[in-house]
Amino acid sequence: MSQVIDGKAFAEGLRARVGTAAVGFEAKSGRKAGLAVVLVGEDPASQVYVRNKGKQTLAAGMNSFEHKLPADTSEADLLAVVEQLNNDPAVDGILVQLPLPAHMNEQKVIATINPDKDVDGFHVVNVGRLATGLPGFVPCTPLGCVMLLKDRLGSLSGLDAVVIGRSNIVGKPMAQLLIAESCTVTVAHSRTKDLPEVVRRADIVVAAVGRPEMVKGDWLKPGATVIDVGINRVPGAEEGKTKLVGDVDFASAAEVAGAITPVPGGVGPMTIAVLLRNTIVAAHRNAG
Ligand code: GUN
Repeated sequence: MSQVIDGKAFAEGLRARVGTAAVGFEAKSGRKAGLAVVLVGEDPASQVYVRNKGKQTLAAGMNSFEHKLPADTSEADLLAVVEQLNNDPAVDGILVQLPLPAHMNEQKVIATINPDKDVDGFHVVNVGRLATGLPGFVPCTPLGCVMLLKDRLGSLSGLDAVVIGRSNIVGKPMAQLLIAESCTVTVAHSRTKDLPEVVRRADIVVAAVGRPEMVKGDWLKPGATVIDVGINRVPGAEEGKTKLVGDVDFASAAEVAGAITPVPGGVGPMTIAVLLRNTIVAAHRNAG
């Protein structure tokens, strides 16, 4: 049986360190660090995320500014809110919750955020900084995955890593981070030929495809470290109930892997903890 990587405990530790840094920032600057979150519309999952972000921001000793806009807000009005946050000295980090309603251009909205307040790391300037090794902001979920990997493995140098999924939010930045850690990186996706064979080469597997329990234990190299980014809601054992599963078939994978993140309690709790970490980093950088 493999070791189960406790992302919840790691995230708690990270949030505590952020709390200490937030106290230091307040002592230095005379104000609290601040994170602004913008939510457009009433997507239930997004509302839950935004509520949790707000709670955890306050618990870490930072200010939380929430801007909730109706689903029919015009793109111009949203851009005006982002500009106002760019110019607000009390706001160190800005996050616009995705997905946005269909009538908005997500890339245009993200491009309006000041890159030095872009704690999501989605602005093209931060994407470019990551790709070229310049300091910037890195998307929270992949950065959290690398923290868990380094905590488990120490140096990742020379390891074979397979990232399944090529999204801008997880797959692509994950690949960049692993390259920066001197892994040999393969990015697999829905068109990859013989995915099990590709995954079998990997010392590190990061699954971020959004397909429930797709990666099976017999795809894995024995001892591999498996990071499951998937959060999929599927019908549960009881009639009418649902349960959360990852992109990895945990039961079979845990028989073969050296270590594996569970769902829930693995990567999930890391995302907000890293967001808070990025916010305190932004506060320190921007305050000089
Ligand atoms: N929606 C789902 N994940 C994320 C995230 O990490 N950041 C933002 N802004 N929206 C999301």
